[in-house]
Order: sequence, then C-alpha cells, then structure tokens
Amino acid sequence: MIYLDHGATSWPNAPGVVEAVAHFLEHEAGNPGRGGHRLTVAASRAIEGARDDVASLLGAHPERTLFGPGATFWLNTVLLSRLDPGDRVVTSALEHNAVMRPLRWLEQSRGVELAIVPGEDPDGLPSAEDFRRETARKPTALVILTHASNITGAVLPIAEIARVVAPVPVLVDGAQTAGSLPVDFSRLGTAAYVCSGHKGLLGPPGVGVLLLGEDFNIDPLVRGGTGSRSESEEMPEYLPDGLEAGTPNGPGIAGIGAACRWLAERGIEEVAEQEQRLVRRLANGLREISGVRLHGWQDDAAHTGILSFTVSGCDNGDLAARLDREHGICLRAGLHCAPAAHRRLGTFPDGTLRAGIGPFNTEADVDALVGAVRRSV
Ligand SMILES: Cc1ncc(COP(=O)(O)O)c(C=O)c1O
Repeated sequence: MIYLDHGATSWPNAPGVVEAVAHFLEHEAGNPGRGGHRLTVAASRAIEGARDDVASLLGAHPERTLFGPGATFWLNTVLLSRLDPGDRVVTSALEHNAVMRPLRWLEQSRGVELAIVPGEDPDGLPSAEDFRRETARKPTALVILTHASNITGAVLPIAEIARVVAPVPVLVDGAQTAGSLPVDFSRLGTAAYVCSGHKGLLGPPGVGVLLLGEDFNIDPLVRGGTGSRSESEEMPEYLPDGLEAGTPNGPGIAGIGAACRWLAERGIEEVAEQEQRLVRRLANGLREISGVRLHGWQDDAAHTGILSFTVSGCDNGDLAARLDREHGICLRAGLHCAPAAHRRLGTFPDGTLRAGIGPFNTEADVDALVGAVRRSV
C-alpha cells in the first residue's frame, strides 16, 4: 500500500505512538484528577506530560493548551462562544465545513453577519490586504481562517493578516499545518489556533488541540465534571479545567504527546522540507501527463504536502478506486468537506483527486502515483 491521504488523516502514526497508547491503557488508565490513587496519579502525569510536549512543539503556554475531541469541536467552541447576535465575522473563501457549517448556522440562527473574502488571486488565496480592507469596512468581532487550504495546500499569510487586522482577534484553523509547517504560536499574533491530533501531528484520532492567547477567553461549549472544585455546580474559571469537562481521551492524548516528542526530535523544518520537496516532484510529474490539470497549484507559492488534480475524461471517484484496486495507492476523491473552496476554484460539484504527502512518503511513492495516473489516462 502507498498511503497518500495525509490531508484526511496520517498513517502510520509517529514512531512511539502505538506504544504510548498501549502503555497508557496498561499502566496509566485511571481517571485523571479524579481521586488520589496511583492509577489516577499516573493518568494525570501522562496527560500533563503530553500537554507540555504539545505546548512546547507549538510555542504555546501549557495551561492554555487544551485537549478536546477534535479540531471541529474547538472551532465550534470558539465560534459559538465569541459570536453574539449582530456580530460580524470575516473569513476566507477556502474554508472547510468545520468552519463554514458553524458559521452558516450562526448566520441563520443568531443573525451573525458573515463576510467572505473572495481573494483577488485566481485561486482564491487571500492576501493580508484583502483582509485589512474587509475588516476596515465595518466593525468586526472575529476573523477566522484556515492556515492552509485542505484542497490545494496553499498556505495563507496568517501572521501578516493578524498584524494588519489588529485589534480584531484572529482564530486560525491549523488542521492542515500543525506538524507539517513550523508553528510558533507565541509569535504568530493570532488570538487562538486549533489543530487536529491525527493529521500532521501524527497521533491517533479523537483528539483536537486549542491554543488560546493570553487575553483571549472563551466559554466552554460543554460543562460537566472536571475532578476539581467538585463542591461547585459551576465550571472552574481557571484553565485547562474550565474548558475540559468530562473524562478526557487519555490514550489518545498520551499518543499525541509521543508524536510531538518524535516531531520535535526529527525537526518540523525537516519534515516540512521533505513534504514540500515531494509535493513539487509530484506536481512536476503530473503536469507532464496530457489531460491532467493541477488546481490551485502555484510554483512560487508556499505549500503544504497537499496537491489537487483532475484528469479530463476521468471520473474522480472511479480513478481513485482504480488507483487503490490496481496500484495499492490510497488518495481521496471528491469535495474533501470544503464545497465553498471548490466553488471558488471552479471544481464544484465534481471536486478533485487529492494527494496528501506525509513524513514517511518517499520519491518512489510519488513516482508510483505519477506512473499509475499515466497508465490510467
Ligand atoms: C482545514 C480543516 N479544518 C478542520 C478539519 C476538521 O478536523 P477534525 O476532523 O480532526 O475535527 C479538517 C479535517 O479534514 C480540515 O482539513
């Protein structure tokens, strides 16, 4: 099998993840913070150790590094907490449904005003100036944008955007970038940053991470037991407890901690360099094939390891199925949960074939995909 679907989820996980998950289940699987016996203490230690590992990799404060069930959960939490009736929110034309669906719901049910920056670039990639102009038009409560498109891999200049829209707070959807590009939250200038544990961070599914800036506070979406201040019927104010109700996904969190330790040792710069080198090789190989069209790919722009393409006369779903069946190549066809981005790119409703390169892929994997597509057209 040649796994090229890292945009959806990573496989395999980083070395050490399976062992950390198993170790948690065998030796640390108490309920953290609930009681004082040895197994709960071991669980608390494992989770707080993982919190330190994630915070250190991403340049965040451990207390303001929160664990939850996924990136989707944290994006919803921040949006529902920060946007009140009549507020205005500005976003890009490239967002995933984890952003667009809560925004559309807020528009319809709370009367939140949604402004989408179309981006003057032909591929919908917005510039900092596009965001500056849009936020200057009217008072704006929040800017939310993806760090990189999950369709094209194009990277948005989030630090520059945060600088020019200030003091409007910026929430970043980093699902496609954490672990694949160096991220130093302490220097980004954004109010909050959300990412998935199972994509570039190379951990198991079921854990999302929220990094919260010093002056940016939110209400929990879910309230319940925290093991702390049990005498009170209200959520604690302090973090991380105030935003982490219910028993956490200990094995998943232990796995993400191990993955972050591996990434720190390997070096995210090195991972990024490798993924970008391979994706450029893929782009160069595919565009030599007659009938293949790359979408949103610009040679001189910043990219993650994601690349979208279509082949004229071929149905995306059929081709993906043949690549899997006949060549053992796993990639994804369709809209990739981002219909708004496809509308902007002109690939709606058929979508694209999307290859997502990860740190364990090689030149041979990329060449196998190019060869298989060449034989299929
Ligand atoms: C850009 C983007 N945002 C958000 C998400 C949602 O992440 P999760 O499914 O881990 O909650 C994804 C996952 O595909 C994504 O690609």
